[in-house]
Parts: sequence; structure tokens; C-alpha cells
Amino acid sequence: MQFAGSHILSIAQFQRHDVERVFQVADRMRPYAHRERVTKVLDGAILGAMFFEPSTRTRVSFGAAFNLLGGEVRETTGFEMSAIAKGESLYDTARVLSGYSDVIAMRHPQEGSVAEFAAASRVPVLNGGDGSNEHPTQALLDLYTIRQELAARGRGIDQLRIAMVGDLRYGRTVHSLCKLLCLFDGVQVMLVSPLELRMPEDIVEQMRAAGLQVEESDALEASIRHVDIVYSTRIQEERFASRQEADLYRGRFRLNQAIYTEHCEPNTVIMHPLPRDSRATARELDEDLNDNPNLAIFRQTDNGMLVRMALFALVLDVVEQVDRHARDVNWYTARRF
Ligand code: NCD
Repeated sequence: MQFAGSHILSIAQFQRHDVERVFQVADRMRPYAHRERVTKVLDGAILGAMFFEPSTRTRVSFGAAFNLLGGEVRETTGFEMSAIAKGESLYDTARVLSGYSDVIAMRHPQEGSVAEFAAASRVPVLNGGDGSNEHPTQALLDLYTIRQELAARGRGIDQLRIAMVGDLRYGRTVHSLCKLLCLFDGVQVMLVSPLELRMPEDIVEQMRAAGLQVEESDALEASIRHVDIVYSTRIQEERFASRQEADLYRGRFRLNQAIYTEHCEPNTVIMHPLPRDSRATARELDEDLNDNPNLAIFRQTDNGMLVRMALFALVLDVVEQVDRHARDVNWYTARRF
């Protein structure tokens, strides 16, 4: 794929070598994300960050990634603070805002909305999540993390065995991750969810057509025995008709240290796109796993910076200029990565 000037809307745009290109550039972003070097390659550029749904990580890390490349961020959050609340169409908003920015990152509760916005935008648009449809940048950072965790165990992504657990029906991160795994060989996927929250059929078919071995189950313990990764997800309560309906499923699958020790192979990696629901009624990933060195959830969030920096550098075509506009940091960096 041609990255320069492109929208990043769906995993369907990517082939394996495109993913490898993103990862290669992400690797090169490490000194900047780790505050050893500062680059001003995007000095003067503006990111329009438009988040019409709750977001902490995705919004802040898109913004911080842009800042780390030397650019500035303008943010709009929530419908009530934007002219959409006055009846403005996505088309008009896109025409206007793309005149104020060099690139836009957007999240919206409706499936397909980011693509609709992108069609009217005059600058590249990166999808930060459109309803329960896709979350391509999250899938890329998840796979980047999987690659890193497996490399530490002397393995590559091919032949990966992964269990995805929780709300597979509405979880856009797992939708995008499944599509991304279709680009790799010999992958085995265990889909663990309540019957009502199964992975959409078209995605299961797509995986099988791509040669993945897919199994579905509603039993956690039996499904996490022979996998390299357990990828847990939150019940997406905002997509249910009522909170009561979401309550039926919350807390159904809980991974804690005792279950992990009893059922998982040693060194099984634990992932979650976050936020994990830590209320007593949910706890899909118990806090007693916090000291487990295989808990990779904060390595995932750190990697989000690298991957989003890489995507900006590729889409704005500055990859080869990043180091030329760099210097060492002036301050003492106390943070350890
Ligand atoms: C996810 C999302 O928004 O889809 N969060 C994220 O971006 N890391 C997952 C979730 O909200 O459960």
C-alpha cells in the first residue's frame, strides 16, 4: 500500500509487507518515545483529534505521538462541544476541519462513520474506532506487542496460538485483530465468549478462508490451556440496549493468578486493549495479575505510542527525515521503559 497521503480506516487495506513496514518504522521511533532524543520533523503540522466517544489511551496517545514528532494537536471531544450537536453533517464537518489540520484522528460511535468522514476530508484520516466495526491502529499495536513478546521467547508471529476472550460481538479491537492475523501462517485462534456475544460470522469465515484454525467456546479454563497469548476484553456495555443486559455477561470470564497458574502454560502472555473493568462485578483481568511478568497490558499501551508515531511518519511521508531533525533531550529522564 502507498502510505503517503492515505487514510488508515481498516485492516483490509494492509498486506503483510505493509504491516512489516509499520513495525520497522515503529522500531525506529523508540529513542523518541523513550525520551532519549527529540525530533521536530513535524514542526508546524497540526493534528485534528476528533473523539466523539469516550477515550483515554487512544486520544492521548495519538496526540502525544504527534507531539513527539514535533507537531501540534487541536482536539474536539464529545458531540455536545461540536457543531454536530447543531445538526451539522459529517460531510460538512470533514470539509471544514480538514482545512484546519494536516491529518485527522477520529473516533465515532457509528460503524462506517470514519470512512464517510474520510471521503469528504481533504487530509488523511486515521480511524480511532468506529462503533463496533474496527480499530485498526489498536490491532497494529496489539500485533506489534505480540511480535515483541514472542521474539523474547525466540518465536515469530507465524504459528501463533491465541485465545480471545469476552465480548467478541461488539469488541472492535478483536474484529480488527482477527482480520490482521489472516495475513500470517499457521495461526490458531480460540474464540471464547458467551453464545450471544460470539465473533461475527463473516469474520470467522474470513479467518477460515485465510487458512487459520478457528475454534469457538464458552468455557474459559479449557480454552486457555494451549495458547501463547490470552487476549481478554471488556463487555462493551455502551453497545447494549441497557445496562441490565450488559450485566448478564459482565464477570462471566475472569482471569486471575490462580486460574492462570492452574490452566495456562508457563509464560503465557496476557493482553487486553484496556480499559479493563476493575469493578467487583466484572474483573475480567484481576489486579492480582499485576505482578505477573507475563502481563503485557502496559507494554501494549507503551507500544501504542511507537505504532501511532510510525503511522503519522508514514502517512505524512517524513520517515527518512525524522533523524535529521533530531537532537538529544535537555532534561533528566527519570522514567524507565
Ligand atoms: C478499546 C476501544 O475503545 O475499542 N479501547 C482502546 O481503544 N484501547 C477497548 C474498550 O473500550 O473496551
